[in-house]
Amino acid sequence: MIKFWLQLLAASCLHGFTHAAPLVNDTFDLHPFRIDLSARVPRMLDQIRSTRLPERFPYSGIDSSFGIDLDVLKALQAKWLTDFSWETEQDSMNQFDHYTTSIEDLRVHFVHEKSAAPNAIPLLLVHGWPGSFLEFAPIIDQLTKEATTFTGKPVSFDVIIPSLPGFTFSSPPPLNWTITDTARIFNTLMVDVLGYNTYAIHGTDWGSAISYNMYDQFNETIGAAHFAFLPFYPQTPDQLAAGNITLSKVELVEEQNAMNWANTGDGYFIEQTTKSNTVGLALQDNPIGQLAWLGEKFMNCEYTSFTSTGCH
Ligand SMILES: *[C@@H]1O[C@H](CO)[C@@H](O)[C@H](O)[C@H]1NC(C)=O
Ligand SMILES: *[C@@H]1O[C@H](CO)[C@@H](O)[C@H](O)[C@H]1NC(C)=O
Ligand SMILES: *[C@@H]1O[C@H](CO)[C@@H](O)[C@H](O)[C@H]1NC(C)=O
Ligand SMILES: *[C@@H]1O[C@H](CO)[C@@H](O)[C@H](O)[C@H]1NC(C)=O
Repeated sequence: MIKFWLQLLAASCLHGFTHAAPLVNDTFDLHPFRIDLSARVPRMLDQIRSTRLPERFPYSGIDSSFGIDLDVLKALQAKWLTDFSWETEQDSMNQFDHYTTSIEDLRVHFVHEKSAAPNAIPLLLVHGWPGSFLEFAPIIDQLTKEATTFTGKPVSFDVIIPSLPGFTFSSPPPLNWTITDTARIFNTLMVDVLGYNTYAIHGTDWGSAISYNMYDQFNETIGAAHFAFLPFYPQTPDQLAAGNITLSKVELVEEQNAMNWANTGDGYFIEQTTKSNTVGLALQDNPIGQLAWLGEKFMNCEYTSFTSTGCH
């Protein structure tokens, strides 16, 4: 991944990135921020402890095709109560420099870790769902440290990781908000709040849609873009037929995968798109409910091979 970044940037855009102004701007109410969950965690532990899961569930012990498995959920519930330390997690999050700023009436939380190198490339990392700024925590050090490209040039990054509106410590947006609006406020964050005149961008999942929009809207300031996901739906078989489009063998496999996903994998998406209040209110004070809803997305593996670091 890092090697890919280095190659991408070395190839196209090591020139023209400019330096950030100091992190002070009264216009945007910019402040350092520390995560403090101490008021929430004790009650949350009570909630987790007192949540009763059924002894048996009709469709337990199978693969993940019905969603999260009861045994997996119970194991994670126990883990949260025993060998999981919220303090350690919080300390690990707080090792980074966090800020909040106010842009167009929204509070925007972000991590800003600067490289020691004077000509570091500013890089905006935009997370997706069900992720958060934490998606990028494991690569911050590697990106900010100076490295050498395959052509021998030194390279490093100033890393900016905002929380999307409504995620973690960023405030929820108004009802009419779209990804175009998120794209605009993130560009404001980079240019007006932080003083970067040009920057690079990377997006994962939903963040790819925002990043793609940003690259389109702000093509003068965004010098390079990379997406872990292309935010487009493939055409349905009917649309392909109507357009007389013939697919190659590989495209046919991809088309079939996409259609399978539409039939088996996007229930959450339809629920969140069409009846967001129902799922939002059901889960907003329900840690085990959140764990089931979000955890399912991280778990394409059998319970037996699940460990704290994922599937093996
Ligand atoms: C969106 O909603 C906000 C707050 O409700 C309002 O101030 C704003 O004018 C609306 N924007 C558009 C484009 O309708
Ligand atoms: C703060 O933001 C305003 C508005 O974009 C800008 O005019 C000003 O130069 C910024 N101040 C600093 C110290 O960067
Ligand atoms: C940026 O976008 C504008 C408007 O779509 C377009 O006219 C212009 O050619 C683009 N510039 C670059 C460098 O792609
Ligand atoms: C598709 O092919 C049919 C039959 O050759 C033709 O009548 C039709 O106009 C074509 N449609 C498009 C969108 O090209």
